[in-house]
Amino acid sequence: MLVTSKQIFQVAQEKGFAFPAPNFIDQLSIASYIEVAEKRKIPMLLSFAQVHQEFLSLEEAACLGRFYGERTKMPMVLHLDHGQDLDTIMRAIELGFTSVMIDASMENLEENIRRTKEVVKYAHQRGVVVEAEIGHVGSGENYESHTVTDSIYTSPAEAKYFADKTQVDSLAISIGTAHGSYKAEPKIQFDVLQQIRQSVTIPLVLHGGSSSGDDNLRRCAREGISKVNVFTDLMNAAGQAVKNQEVQNYIEVKDLSRQGIIRCLEHFCDILEVDKYGRA
Ligand code: 13P
Repeated sequence: MLVTSKQIFQVAQEKGFAFPAPNFIDQLSIASYIEVAEKRKIPMLLSFAQVHQEFLSLEEAACLGRFYGERTKMPMVLHLDHGQDLDTIMRAIELGFTSVMIDASMENLEENIRRTKEVVKYAHQRGVVVEAEIGHVGSGENYESHTVTDSIYTSPAEAKYFADKTQVDSLAISIGTAHGSYKAEPKIQFDVLQQIRQSVTIPLVLHGGSSSGDDNLRRCAREGISKVNVFTDLMNAAGQAVKNQEVQNYIEVKDLSRQGIIRCLEHFCDILEVDKYGRA
């Protein structure tokens, strides 16, 4: 069934774990994510990034998300990741996305607030939840503007001001991760996470989950992050699964890719301790 993230984030906050939010770019990836959710009996945040429209249109993503999201018994959130403009976000909501992100984190604080408020107003009237970003998680290939490469850490005081002003439902913060691959494991600012966690009550989101270090991510999940976005590692896992194999045809490529993606997502589920969801 399709749901918003409201209730499942509440469980994550209470029990101290995080959901992985994998980006899908085609039928194979979304079906693999659903397979993991059904096997482990956990909800899944099926994320589609606006910039991935080069692989899949918003309409196709909505069709896949609604089809797979509605036929499973597990709660599924169909989420627009890194929404960049109001038009696309409004279209996503009309197409049935249950959660949207407005990413105006490259703008100054007041402009970020203005754009986020606009989306919050539109989305809340339609029962859709909104994620926004404060500070800026630097971008790698396939994400956002390629000219913005440096992360700007989130200020705890600004995070509180932003959350109060916008009434956004969840907040992506920048504490040391970046989108894409790293040269070395990132250094996470756990003290900043702690200060933000103490100053805002809404669920916190970490972007750039790939290759961020298992211990780092487990600690983030335990110390107040409710969702970790992942993409690069999943795509690399599919590539690795096919590499050096004697594949004869497309069907074998797909099958090995699916297995690689599932193994990788299950690993994220383990380190984020998402199985706490079903425990008393
Ligand atoms: P990675 O590709 O670094 O895992 O980041 C994914 C992400 O943050 C999507 O919003």
